[in-house]
Amino acid sequence: MNEEEKQKSFDEEEKRIKENISKISHRIAVFSGKGGVGKTTVSVNLAYGLQMDGLSTGLLDADITGPNVAKMLGINNELIVVDSKMIPFEKFGVKMISIASLIESGQPVIWRGPMRSKIISQFLADVEWGELDYLIADLPPGTGDEILTIAQQMKPDYAVVVTTPQEVSVIDAERAINMAKKLEIPFIGVVENMSGFVCPHCSAVIELFGSGGGKKLADDYEVPFLGSIPIDIDARIMGDMGKPIVLEKPESEVSTAFKSILDIMDKHYHNEFQSN
Ligand SMILES: Nc1ncnc2c1ncn2[C@@H]1O[C@H](COP(=O)(O)OP(=O)(O)O)[C@@H](O)[C@H]1O
Ligand SMILES: [Mg+2]
Repeated sequence: MNEEEKQKSFDEEEKRIKENISKISHRIAVFSGKGGVGKTTVSVNLAYGLQMDGLSTGLLDADITGPNVAKMLGINNELIVVDSKMIPFEKFGVKMISIASLIESGQPVIWRGPMRSKIISQFLADVEWGELDYLIADLPPGTGDEILTIAQQMKPDYAVVVTTPQEVSVIDAERAINMAKKLEIPFIGVVENMSGFVCPHCSAVIELFGSGGGKKLADDYEVPFLGSIPIDIDARIMGDMGKPIVLEKPESEVSTAFKSILDIMDKHYHNEFQSN
């Protein structure tokens, strides 16, 4: 391809992205400073919380080198492409796209930043998302190329920053908040995950990773604190089984926490109180 052709193909892709995005009312990006803090768990359960409220929802797995969304939904089918459009998977009523469906399980994705960004652009341009109330992007940890691509092309209107309570996670989450601010994402909120563990034997709360780190972080950066999610063995078991806990155990404390987070976000969207 010469320069002119490259530019043309880039412009056409941009046009397809714009067209796709114009049919999606709200776009949420789930950030974290670190891996393993529960980004995918939060992305998946927020998506199903919305779906349970009757809202059409999609999940875009933007964590190209650690794609776990398909696993957490128990999807291992092959991707279907029709007329150069990718048909998103659909599980329990939520649409989903992930690189995991294009690579062999266990194989590393050894791609440089531009390649990872390219596939994200394709997920935005060439996936048949249709009309959606919400699209949630599960981002990779940190502040890499993929996040810039999501910010520029998906244009998220809400950044959910996930942290665990301990300082090493909170310090890295600060970077995520600053990134979301620099990217001018209109709403930014903090979720504290794995905050406290209720002993199944004696019901005492054990603060494995401490508590309050997420709230303090939100206060320090003057962004809203959206809520805390406790550690629940079922959340992990359901994740491994590909069954979101909000669907399987809607009465659990974890599910209640997710619903409350969605309520607060909804209030922000409707300007019922100031976001920051
Ligand atoms: N609140 C929670 N209670 C119990 N296990 C959790 C909770 N949140 C996440 N997990 C588990 O912790 C692990 C890491 O979570 P994950 O969502 O994959 O994090 P990330 O996407 O940030 O790397 C997974 O096995 C997940 O099931
Ligand atoms: Mg993940």
